[in-house]
Amino acid sequence: MNKTVTLTYEGKQIELPVVTGSEGEEAIDISRLRAETGLITLDPGYVNTGSCLSAITFMNGEKGILRYRGIPVEQLAEHSSFKETAYLLINGHLPNRDELTQFSVMLNDHSLVHTDMKAFYQNYPRASHPMGILSSMVNALRSFYPALDTEEQIDIAMTRLLAKVRTMAAMSYKISRGHELVLPRPDLTFCENFLNMMFDTPVTPYEIKREVVNALRVFWILHADHEQNCSTSSVRMVGSARVNLYAAISSGIAALWGPLHGGANQAVIEMLTEIQTGGGGYKKAIERAKDKKDPFRLMGFGHRVYKTYDPRAKIMKKTCDELLESLRLEDPLLDVAKKLEETALSDQYFIDHNLYPNVDFYSGIVLRAIGIPTNMFTVMFALGRLPGWIAQWKESKDDPNWKIARPRQIYNGETEYAYVPIHAR
Ligand code: ACO
Repeated sequence: MNKTVTLTYEGKQIELPVVTGSEGEEAIDISRLRAETGLITLDPGYVNTGSCLSAITFMNGEKGILRYRGIPVEQLAEHSSFKETAYLLINGHLPNRDELTQFSVMLNDHSLVHTDMKAFYQNYPRASHPMGILSSMVNALRSFYPALDTEEQIDIAMTRLLAKVRTMAAMSYKISRGHELVLPRPDLTFCENFLNMMFDTPVTPYEIKREVVNALRVFWILHADHEQNCSTSSVRMVGSARVNLYAAISSGIAALWGPLHGGANQAVIEMLTEIQTGGGGYKKAIERAKDKKDPFRLMGFGHRVYKTYDPRAKIMKKTCDELLESLRLEDPLLDVAKKLEETALSDQYFIDHNLYPNVDFYSGIVLRAIGIPTNMFTVMFALGRLPGWIAQWKESKDDPNWKIARPRQIYNGETEYAYVPIHAR
């Protein structure tokens, strides 16, 4: 029997259908609410609002579950390549051998960046944040590759984006350092290629280490999608106006930049460094995070959906330990992070608020060990999230119930009053 919810308002009753997802999640379908009652719903931050039906990612924040297209993220992090995971997210199924080969060929074919784009990079002020550059450069791709009309052209654009953004990220790093650009190589894997473009120089050829490639692979897979978070919702919302793929993804990159979202990985390292270099130690940081008069928050802690340990953080922490051990690296920030985590997890405030480390708590230490500069951390997140954004944009574009996103509001400003000319004010 179909479930319904009955709403009583001003003596009138209306039945609202309950929609049930494939994992048993339930939602009240309020699409007829305004037409039948004149009411809208008010839900700041969309804490209780489902914006779409989606078959891409399932997460359960109470149980710490995350699956892409049904496959647990733990299994993908253990066995899959980033390329294969990207294919899975975008196309909805794991590729067979031919499909994967075809996808690899396309990624290689589209990995070069138009040489005129170099001039843009070179003219950005030296101190520009790479996320600002990336967001505008992705938007600029529309001018260089305008063919986006047919399904085939859109398919190519999705692959082009994955291939080129990786090259563009490495390019911005090289240009910021005044180094020669390194071109992508078809003989390298997706992750190896990125590392080589970032770190190879004519003087010191880059030595590709298996452990480093593996850490990057895991980092990117763990970041590949996370259903309707702030940046993904931005991609869907901007995309709902039927803008081109590049413009929609550019808006996602801008949203991800924020320190409460993808910018947290950079903010965590800055916080740990501050604690380590004399900011009063980790106990003081815990006290500050609990003090309601202090705006300070423990970065890398807490999550809108996870009310238990973020499953990605568990894998990230393990990857971090393994990478540092295999490279024989000692990072004093890892020590600070572990003490901070241990203290927070046994503190009543963090217990009561269900605050656990999120994916970004340990990811910055992994990126540092790989050699990524701190201001590139969020760019690394964006590279990982790209397949998810593309998949979500595609799903929304093809949705038979598509509508331009247009929330309403409850106006609480001045009621009508007459204009007063300036001489009379
Ligand atoms: N440190 C201290 N207190 C916190 C923290 C934190 N990191 N996070 C939440 N709280 C407290 C809030 O002060 C609030 O307390 P109160 O109810 O006593 O007033 C309560 O927990 C709920 O906080 P909200 O901000 O309402 O929770 P929300 O779900 O809106 O926010 C968010 C989630 C933004 C991630 C938050 O936990 C936060 O700011 N964390 C730090 C930034 C961070 O790590 N962001 C990355 C998230 S993961 C990602 O985007 C990849």
